Amino acid sequence: MASFTGSFLTVFLAVVVANSSATEFQVGYDFGWQQPASNNTALYSQWASNNRFHVGDSLYFNYKNDSVLEVDKWGYYHCNITNPIIAFDNGKSIMKLDRSGPFYFISGVPDHCKNGQRLWVQVMDPHPISQTPPSIADPPEPYLAADSPAPSSSLGVAISNTPCSIVIAVLVTILASVCSSP
Ligand SMILES: *[C@@H]1O[C@H](CO)[C@@H](O)[C@H](O)[C@H]1NC(C)=O
Ligand SMILES: *[C@@H]1O[C@H](CO)[C@@H](O)[C@H](O)[C@H]1NC(C)=O
Ligand SMILES: *[C@@H]1O[C@H](CO)[C@@H](O)[C@H](O)[C@H]1NC(C)=O
Ligand SMILES: *[C@@H]1O[C@H](CO)[C@@H](O)[C@H](O)[C@H]1NC(C)=O
Repeated sequence: MASFTGSFLTVFLAVVVANSSATEFQVGYDFGWQQPASNNTALYSQWASNNRFHVGDSLYFNYKNDSVLEVDKWGYYHCNITNPIIAFDNGKSIMKLDRSGPFYFISGVPDHCKNGQRLWVQVMDPHPISQTPPSIADPPEPYLAADSPAPSSSLGVAISNTPCSIVIAVLVTILASVCSSP
């Protein structure tokens, strides 16, 4: 019993540790951050829906002759570059996802933004356990949906409903059974 509990604990802790480390995501994979081809304007919303972002992760933007601006939702939908929250044009930019909720990024070249070079990601609370709901049915809005409604935050809410206290409770239970073994 003790050795079973011990190995379970080891696996459990390994999963927690492996999943609590921050991830750096390369935006657009090898394509990087550039204006998508005209037949591929949903490239960045597809990229975003293929990944899961948690607080503490970061986004790596790799680009040439371009820039990346973090903007608010309005700036994202209107490709408005006048009031960026942060702006970078150094070709290799790292944006830390330091809170949960939506983040919006656009190219500082207005035509590029209008042609699909913009990214919206939904950042979830830190969630160390791998048993999360499958990533389905919550893709970012398609590109040309200019005045579409607010991005749903239901996924983030669902995930944050598994509170850390459950993790702690499970750990305490396991540790208690290990420690009480002769
Ligand atoms: C876009 O068109 C190019 C050829 O011009 C093709 O190679 C590529 O697969 C197309 N991409 C998509 C997403 O349809
Ligand atoms: C970037 O701009 C410079 C000068 O304007 C040009 O020589 C270079 O080819 C451009 N690079 C890309 C990848 O467009
Ligand atoms: C961008 O937004 C600002 C206000 O934040 C506004 O004054 C400006 O006209 C807008 N520009 C465009 C191109 O919509
Ligand atoms: C970490 O979590 C992700 C999903 O969030 C999962 O795919 C991955 O297998 C987990 N890592 C480990 C070591 O279990």
